[in-house]
Amino acid sequence: MKTLAIIGAQWGDEGKGKVTDFFASRCDVVVRFQGGNNAGHTIVVDGRKIVTHLVPSGILTPHALSIIGHGVVLDPRSFAQEHADLTAAGVSISPANLKISLHCNIITSYHRLLDGARETQGAVKLGTTGRGIGPAYEDRAARRSLKLADLLDEKRLHAQLAQVLDEKQILFAQRYHVDYPSLQDEGAALLALGEFLRPYAADTFSLLHELQSRQRKILFEGAQGILLDIDYGTYPFVTSSSTGLAGIYAGAGLQGAPDEVIGLCKAYTTRVGSGPFPTELTDDTGTTLRELGGEYGATTGRARRCGWLDLPLLRYAVRAGNLTSLALTKLDVLAGLPALQACVAYEYDGQRLDVAFPGMDLARVRPVYEVLPPLQDAAGLGAGSLPPSVANYVAFIERHLQIPVGLLSFGPERSQLLQLRQYF
Ligand code: IMP
Repeated sequence: MKTLAIIGAQWGDEGKGKVTDFFASRCDVVVRFQGGNNAGHTIVVDGRKIVTHLVPSGILTPHALSIIGHGVVLDPRSFAQEHADLTAAGVSISPANLKISLHCNIITSYHRLLDGARETQGAVKLGTTGRGIGPAYEDRAARRSLKLADLLDEKRLHAQLAQVLDEKQILFAQRYHVDYPSLQDEGAALLALGEFLRPYAADTFSLLHELQSRQRKILFEGAQGILLDIDYGTYPFVTSSSTGLAGIYAGAGLQGAPDEVIGLCKAYTTRVGSGPFPTELTDDTGTTLRELGGEYGATTGRARRCGWLDLPLLRYAVRAGNLTSLALTKLDVLAGLPALQACVAYEYDGQRLDVAFPGMDLARVRPVYEVLPPLQDAAGLGAGSLPPSVANYVAFIERHLQIPVGLLSFGPERSQLLQLRQYF
């Protein structure tokens, strides 16, 4: 296998950091192709927690080259901070192991301010991460995005930044009543950050093409998840990028199809931010899952909403994401519960549905549950074996989704993984 994509099969936070780290150690190149520092990919190495936001998780693999493709929205301030944090944590990060597309879209202070103002004063509260992701992608679609290449040329920077601010200044002054930095101040700050970024800037599209032609093993690291996809997700409570395969083609470049598309899936479901959530548990079981699973956002610290596994949504994610196998994470957390259920179908407008569809009103579905034996012998996973209750849960999921479960994760440490399928 030469090309591999890792895609969130739920609403993000499925444990992509750890699984990407596992595969990255077997790959030559790790590529981020969409999203930005709204992501928070957590990896625990020897008891030490490392969180990446914008930088590919491959940065923790010394021999791998990390690439940030042009579909990413890059906040240069956040990059500088992450660079400092990773360096302080002893992670080597340099132009030798990280390349950033010259064509990346830049998140400015104006995007962050607008995101924050809409969340606090707008008519609809989407529960965004407040990182300016949506407004930056709006500018990309509106064809006025500031690109990394613009930061490297003072004249271009000021001309393009003026376009970015043009209509927003009316919103800041007259709609939201928020102060915003002057063009001169923001331009000067971005110019300095551009100098910091300059050694990393590259034509990553051509580089990737060449690496693939040279048969390098390439991993595409998705951020967020299918249910947050701009088209396939639970609109409008979604992020602003294509979180599935379309995002790879649009935001990095790939010849042909990936050899494997691994969907990342928690053994239960979580969601952060607003929007419908059919299997949400608002009782003590939900609280227990949150506490046992440490279900608090790696980026914003917000408490995540927790619920049972939702198979109609996962069947949909398999279709929408072209998933070829699943990695099932956080089995140890589910093992802490004395009871176990999973949603196998929905009742929707008097009909029984096995699979969701784009635009389905999830607020109106009634989940149909199946009761399963709890995973109380999951401790045996540490010994590398497959305890009967876990084997039963895995078989149940495979039967419903019709794709194999290839990897199990049962704790935050790198070592707490069990491979059921040989990928490399
Ligand atoms: P935005 O991406 O900041 O615009 O947020 C839009 C929605 O996506 C909100 O519901 C966020 O909570 C959610 N979201 C964005 N990034 C992540 C992530 O990495 N994990 C989980 N949820 C996310």
